[in-house]
Amino acid sequence: MNYVALRGRSVWITGASSGIGLEMALLAARAEAKLFLFSSRAELLKKAVALCATRGALAVHFEAVDLSDYNAAEEVAKKLLQLNGPPQILILNAGVSQRSFAVDTELAVTSKIMNLNFLGAVGMTRVVLPSMVENGGGKIAVTSSLTGVFGFPLRSSYAASKHALHGYFESLDLEYGALGIRVTLAILGRIRTEIALRALKGDGTSYGIQDPALKKGMDPRRCAAKYWRAILRGRRVKVMGGIEVLMIFFHRYIPALFRLIARKVNSK
Ligand SMILES: NC(=O)c1ccc[n+]([C@@H]2O[C@H](COP(=O)([O-])OP(=O)(O)OC[C@H]3O[C@@H](n4cnc5c(N)ncnc54)[C@H](OP(=O)(O)O)[C@@H]3O)[C@@H](O)[C@H]2O)c1
Repeated sequence: MNYVALRGRSVWITGASSGIGLEMALLAARAEAKLFLFSSRAELLKKAVALCATRGALAVHFEAVDLSDYNAAEEVAKKLLQLNGPPQILILNAGVSQRSFAVDTELAVTSKIMNLNFLGAVGMTRVVLPSMVENGGGKIAVTSSLTGVFGFPLRSSYAASKHALHGYFESLDLEYGALGIRVTLAILGRIRTEIALRALKGDGTSYGIQDPALKKGMDPRRCAAKYWRAILRGRRVKVMGGIEVLMIFFHRYIPALFRLIARKVNSK
């Protein structure tokens, strides 16, 4: 892939301290982008900044912010907008997963998942969008999941947050497409990151276990390369993962088979 289109571009990435977001940042660094990295853990972000600098980023800054506080998400976006202008590419990737039955999931946990996965992304977007339009447009990429397409056991609130992203950002793409904004929705299957370790249980504590299935998932570097390709080509939807992405087809066309598989997998 020719990443030359990224050279000198201002790229904001949320959830850039680890996993897919970090790999996205490293690829953009190699293409000499100007990077703004966000997540809640400053120590990891500092390491990400150092790595990006050695890989060739034209500039790299970080903001440690809890994006589940959507007011904080808006504030940090306003601050950066004033200092550096709007991003040309905004990647809304921060997220937390879930491992608990719906009724066992405290409302505060659902609220945290919705705030981080959905409202934090919306807060940041609302702040930068008018300036992106004034600048002639830009790209917004949203990291979703197969659970943005269908529900799944132990993921009720997580699936709700990803479905919300689809509704919001598809609407936004329709509203702002003519003004130069292009939204890419990345619908991910299993990617080999630590997302399961940090997933929330019903009481808000961390799951702390790596799903065996996730260990066999797609390499996050490969996922990041495909993700960048989709963004730069202006794809509206990009599905990535392994054989599990067939579940989209089953859900749509063979619902009985979809239900059989979904109830078997992860129904503990
Ligand atoms: N891996 C998969 O199989 C898979 C499948 C479908 C969708 N996804 C989506 O892919 C995205 C990236 O996940 P990943 O797999 O790369 O897992 P990950 O390594 O756990 O990345 C999650 C990122 O979100 C950040 N984050 C979490 N809580 C935050 C908070 N309160 N405020 C700010 N940032 C926060 C994390 O940074 P800090 O902890 O430093 O804050 C981290 O950088 C997520 O949206 C996830 O839903 C992943």
